[in-house]
Amino acid sequence: MDKINFFPSNLEIKNQKIILRLDLNVPIKNKMILDDTRIVLCLPFIKQLIEKKAKIIIISHLGRPKGIKDPDLSLMPIYKYLKKTLQTNVYFFTGNIDNEVSQKFSHLNQGEVILIENIRYFEEETNNDENFSKKLASLGDIYINDAFSCSHRKQSSIHNITKFLDRCFAGPLLKKEIDAINLVIKNKKEPVTCIIGGSKISTKINVLSNLIKEVNSLIIVGAMANNFFLYKNLNIGKSLVETDTKEIIKKIYEKAKKNNCEIVIPEDCIVSTSFDGEGKNKNLDQIENSEMILDIGVNTIKKIQDIIDHSSTVLWNGPAGYFENKNFLKGTISIAETISKNTSKKNLISVIGGGDTLAAINKNKNKLSFSHLSTAGGAFLEYLEGKDLPGLSVLK
Ligand code: 3PG
Repeated sequence: MDKINFFPSNLEIKNQKIILRLDLNVPIKNKMILDDTRIVLCLPFIKQLIEKKAKIIIISHLGRPKGIKDPDLSLMPIYKYLKKTLQTNVYFFTGNIDNEVSQKFSHLNQGEVILIENIRYFEEETNNDENFSKKLASLGDIYINDAFSCSHRKQSSIHNITKFLDRCFAGPLLKKEIDAINLVIKNKKEPVTCIIGGSKISTKINVLSNLIKEVNSLIIVGAMANNFFLYKNLNIGKSLVETDTKEIIKKIYEKAKKNNCEIVIPEDCIVSTSFDGEGKNKNLDQIENSEMILDIGVNTIKKIQDIIDHSSTVLWNGPAGYFENKNFLKGTISIAETISKNTSKKNLISVIGGGDTLAAINKNKNKLSFSHLSTAGGAFLEYLEGKDLPGLSVLK
């Protein structure tokens, strides 16, 4: 297998324009950053590039604006954060990526940083548009992808941009992520349990079927589980759900049977009529049309804790509920605490992944310990499946 081209720390980069693709996709509400873990992790490398007197051009996305300039998905709060944290001039670019774009960046001096506004404000980004990628590439001399968590996306600033620059590397954070995940894959001990939750259903549902071969138990929580309830003809009220998943779920059950993998879905849940409401514990056959499922229930928590207690390796990706409201945080925190306890007391190998999972467990007051905490959600799962991620294959 070809090796990934990692950024050599001794490379002379003084005065070089570096395009740095980061994942600054952090939870933001009312222009406030709710969890800065992903930004904090990126800071040491940005600081290193500043010290080495490179000119740093940062690209990131936030959410999925689909080519629309949605002000709620602006990187402005992140720009303010960087401006406050970095000891240098930091600029914010909100213009178009056109043929003249590189001239608009000509004021950038050594050791200074410019952050480009949400790259997904341009639909060419998600289309992996060649022309757009070429214009982006015209901004720099060197390209560095330090966003492992975005490397499963075949998008301009991750994929096609590399066609137009000779020197393209993977950054140190990306390296740390894959080194840690590789170590876990190599050392994983059975029984292996994988817990999948969260609301990014379309990213993860196909992955489930491939993970079955790798694990002994697959636990489905969060909005992902709603599809399984629907498959079993249960009423899920107005809960979040993906369309047309019956066929894939049928295949998941068939494959699980063949591979001796136990599929576990919640047996009770916490419901409410609104996201900011209070929670009520209900059995799955009691859900009313006006309600939505926002967390796993007490019996489900006990069952999952028991499975974790009997596992040697746990991989977890995606919260169990709508953690933004503390009334629906209990499922996620209980899972986190049980994994942490088993990691420190019983040598459980644990890998926790995903931006929302990190944000959710950071709401916990007690310090938790895991073998590896990954910033990646979908990318982590696809890597685990053994897929060649598009953002990594172009760096080989
Ligand atoms: C993530 O949060 O997993 C990454 O930022 C990728 O986001 P995406 O699923 O919207 O591509």
